[in-house]
Amino acid sequence: MLIAFFSWGGNTKGIAGEIQAQTGADLFEIELVTPYSDDYNTVLDQAQHDQNIQARPEIANHVENFEQYDTILLGYPNWWASIPMPIASFLEEYDFAGKTIVPFCSHGGGRFGQSLTAIAKLAPDATMGEPLSVHYSGGADLPDEIAAWLAQNGIAAA
Ligand SMILES: Cc1cc2nc3c(=O)[nH]c(=O)nc-3n(C[C@H](O)[C@H](O)[C@H](O)COP(=O)(O)O)c2cc1C
Repeated sequence: MLIAFFSWGGNTKGIAGEIQAQTGADLFEIELVTPYSDDYNTVLDQAQHDQNIQARPEIANHVENFEQYDTILLGYPNWWASIPMPIASFLEEYDFAGKTIVPFCSHGGGRFGQSLTAIAKLAPDATMGEPLSVHYSGGADLPDEIAAWLAQNGIAAA
């Protein structure tokens, strides 16, 4: 099992870390050749522009031996009611045929938006697991929510 995620502000990264602690799975942070701006207002514009043109930002790092993984827990923030475009780059880079993608999405109120549909379109040969949405970095009950979500997906704790 692989936990792959993209995070701009750290919320998704924190959630991924908690999932890693509970599962012991490998962790992969999607990093960009040209990172987005650190400035919130600037990244809002950049993200909207990238979504409008359906950009595929170039990913700087790559998963070794991707074929060894059956299940990919895929984390991202809700950006403009969908996936950040680096998630599209990631989904197009690897062969997801026969694999299960289990999305987890950090958001500011819009939950998944259109992101699940976007993922299904980009990885049509994958099976989709039960997704998890988390408000920003989650609350005090995040570990319990993650444990319940893993169980729902038949993923055993480490
Ligand atoms: C460019 C951008 C667009 C966003 N668009 C949405 C949105 O459409 N709906 C929503 O609920 N939250 C939206 N948010 C809020 C993020 O989903 C939220 O802050 C999330 O916790 C960020 O995760 P991160 O810290 O891992 O980057 C947006 C944030 C950014 C930076």
